[in-house]
Amino acid sequence: MMPSSVLLVPLQLCCLIVMMVSMPTCKLPGNVIQPTHALLEDMGDAFPAQCRQFNGKIQFPAPPFSGGPATHPQCHWTSLVVYESLRGAELIFLQYELPKGEGGVTWDEQKLEQFRNLQDRLVQDHLCVSIRTRSSSGLLSPYFNNVTAVVEQTDSAVCGWESLRRDLLKVLKVALHRHHSCFNWTRAH
Ligand SMILES: *[C@@H]1O[C@H](CO)[C@@H](O)[C@H](O)[C@H]1NC(C)=O
Ligand SMILES: *[C@@H]1O[C@H](CO)[C@@H](O)[C@H](O)[C@H]1NC(C)=O
Repeated sequence: MMPSSVLLVPLQLCCLIVMMVSMPTCKLPGNVIQPTHALLEDMGDAFPAQCRQFNGKIQFPAPPFSGGPATHPQCHWTSLVVYESLRGAELIFLQYELPKGEGGVTWDEQKLEQFRNLQDRLVQDHLCVSIRTRSSSGLLSPYFNNVTAVVEQTDSAVCGWESLRRDLLKVLKVALHRHHSCFNWTRAH
């Protein structure tokens, strides 16, 4: 009889190969992205008119999902833009206090918290989306640098946060509508 450790080696090798083969299909879970979008939408009102003055300063590379390098197949590019948008937003949430109370943002606390939990989970569990692409973290950095600059200033902070919410909403909405099949719709058991 073969000792079990001898069997273990080919077993590990096989799994490594399976992992490598399945990596290019690393997808974001549609069943998590969808409620993330819904919570973000429901937690606040429409974009405030007085924040339009920052539209020149905060411009999400538009239209989203176009202009990817030719080497990126469409779904790969879509996943990357969605992932990097969530991650960039996450970093701002971690670094800055949301202005609350008088003159602050008026987002629903509970929905915001649920949204943040889903966002954390997506960013932490799907690093594979980003890892496969070199230089992907630089993709949206000019945008996030500008958002950060607006969020940092006390008198414009609310508009920075509102712009971030508006742009993230749009990214998720466009991705879900136009690139539905790029997500993984298999439910976890
Ligand atoms: C960043 O801000 C500069 C200066 O206001 C602006 O010219 C540029 O278009 C902005 N870029 C993005 C990606 O928002
Ligand atoms: C899709 O989701 C299911 C359930 O979470 C998971 O088992 C599977 O590995 C995922 N597939 C891809 C390609 O990410």
